[in-house]
Order: sequence, then C-alpha cells, then structure tokens
Amino acid sequence: MTEKLELIRRLKDEHDLSDSELKKLIESPEPDADLFRAADELRRSIYGEDVYIRGIVEFTNFCKNNCYYCGIRRDNRRVERYRLTDDQILQCCEAGYSLGYRTFVLQGGEDPYYTDDRICGLLEKIRAAYPDCAITLSIGEKSRESYQKYFDAGADRYLLRHETADDALYRRWHPEEMDLSNRKRCLFDLKEIGYQVGAGFMVGAPYQTTEHLIADLRFLQELDPDMIGIGPFIHHVDTPFGDQQSGSLEMTLRMLSILRLLFPDALIPSTTALGTIDPQGREKGFQAGANVVMPNITPANVRELYLLYDEKICTGEDAFQCRGCLEGRVFGAGYRMVVSRGDRIRQGTAK
Ligand code: 5AD
Ligand code: FES
Repeated sequence: MTEKLELIRRLKDEHDLSDSELKKLIESPEPDADLFRAADELRRSIYGEDVYIRGIVEFTNFCKNNCYYCGIRRDNRRVERYRLTDDQILQCCEAGYSLGYRTFVLQGGEDPYYTDDRICGLLEKIRAAYPDCAITLSIGEKSRESYQKYFDAGADRYLLRHETADDALYRRWHPEEMDLSNRKRCLFDLKEIGYQVGAGFMVGAPYQTTEHLIADLRFLQELDPDMIGIGPFIHHVDTPFGDQQSGSLEMTLRMLSILRLLFPDALIPSTTALGTIDPQGREKGFQAGANVVMPNITPANVRELYLLYDEKICTGEDAFQCRGCLEGRVFGAGYRMVVSRGDRIRQGTAK
C-alpha cells in the first residue's frame, strides 16, 4: 500500500491524523480518487444517497463590516443595496416550501436595520407558518443575549464561518475592528444556547498555507460543529483582494474529503462557490463527501446584488429553476434530493 493510501485508510478508520500526516495528505501531488472514494463510502454509510436541501434567502446586502475579500463590504460603493421586507421573505419561504424545502436559511450582511426585535418578529412569523421546518440564521457576530433571543423566537440553527482559525491570517483578511476571538466566542455561545452550529473556512484565500488549513481542522475538532461549510476563495474586483488569485477546485475538494473523514456525520454543503469555479463543482463536491446543497430562493430581481465574489452562479435564475437544475445535478452525481429538515444523524463513535 502506498503511503497516501495508508494515511487515507487510517483517517477513515480513526477520524484523525497527526499534523505532519495531514500536511502530507494536503500537499500530496498524487491524484485524489482514493481520498474521494473513502469519503464517499463513509458518507454513504451514514447518510446513504441522501442530499439535504436548504432554501437560502439573502435578505439584505447592507453590511457594517469591511472584510477585504467580500463583495458586499461596507466600503464597496458600487453595490446597490437592498433589504427585503418580512412579507417578501415569507413569500420566499412559501415558494421554497412548495419546492420541498424544509429548512430556510436567512442570510445577510451585518445590517443594523434588522434589530433584535425585527429579527425576532420575523422568526416568529416563519415559525408559526412552518412549524415543520428548521430555521437557520446567518447574520454574523452578535451578543450572547441576542443569540438567545433569536433562539427563543424559533431559530434552530446558525451558520457563522470562522473563516480562518489563525489569528495572524485573520488579521490580514479583516480590518482592525474585527477579531477572531469574538468570532470564536460567538460560535461557542451559539453551541451552549442549543443551536445546531455551522462553522467553516475559505480555501485558497490570500496568504493561506497548509499550516493554516490544519489549524482550521483543529479548531473544528475543538468546536465539534454540526455543519461545516467550505468553499474556494473567489476574488471580487471591487475589493482590496480584487487582484488576488482564486482558490482551486482541487484543493477545495481535497479539504472537503478530509473534513468528511474527520467528521463522519457532519452536514457538509457542496457550495455555490464550488459551483462557480467549476461548472460541475457541486457534483464533484457530492462525490468528494458533501451531503447538503443550498438552493437560492432569493427573489430574482435582487439576486445579482448579493455578490460576495465575481461570477456567482444562479443570479439569473429563480427558485423554481434552481430546484430543477439541482435535482438533475444531484441525481447525475449519483445521489437523491430528499424532502426533510435534514438534521445531523449523530454517530456515537464520531469525534
Ligand atoms: N470568495 C469566497 N467566499 C466568500 N465569502 C465571502 N466572500 C467570499 C469570496 N470572495 C464567504 C465567507 C462567508 C460566506 C457567507 O461567504 O466565508 O462566511
Ligand atoms: Fe441555481 Fe443551478 S442551482 S441555476
């Protein structure tokens, strides 16, 4: 057995490796077919062929933050800003529900217009109308008190990528006023409150090394999130990182498989960013271990205003078209989309 095969086998059986072994796997120049196969086998042993779907509503592109990589950063004056009303958001949920979605993800920039009272009012309406659905929030860093209020108003899950677990790298990606320790604090608060929590990071973003990626894996082991979202960094012309090279499909898929082997029962999406860097990116993501997809249910007329990076896909389609498109892609890759909340299937043996 080659050294790489042996590492894959051990990672699949033991769900861990040393830093130097992870480094070998991450930097290996050999093809990844065996790695993908191992990840897919493990995923199928827990989730079968099922791919869970979450309808995502991008309800505001206002953001008070200024992350150097993100297209909706505060200083990007070239974006036309929009906010959706409660009624518009509820209409998105209605369309999503009829398409079979049983999880709604409300994602937005950090927009002070949506006070805790407004968010809670919205959550209560969605909760009352869709008692059988999960509600996921993805609205950034808040106080523990705010997170508790959203939870009490009906939110079940929260997505907040840590972006990078390395302090120095975090500094290079964000302005002074943001810091990694607060982001980590948010994630642990969310877990303690009782949310199903999603963290994650970008792959191939400026200045990122293998050591940084290993730090991300170690941080995730400490947090033990229910969901892990990763995608390639893709530059956006109107940001300070506009001239930087984007991350690669290959490295993103490799990290996806490693995540599956480290976290056998995690919910791992095949992301829109993956579908943006390669026309078959999402299919390849499923085959490398992903088991979730997040079709866009944002109203078609504002979709192209929520551009975190260049060339984002699905901006010309509506909810119905994305549903059909994805169904075909999931099936074509060898899996099936299921109508369910898509909760994590916890494994006793998983780390
Ligand atoms: N390229 C890829 N992903 C990005 N995100 C933000 N900007 C970019 C970009 N330029 C990701 C971040 C964020 C998520 C909503 O989108 O990881 O947490
Ligand atoms: Fe939106 Fe394919 S998923 S067009």
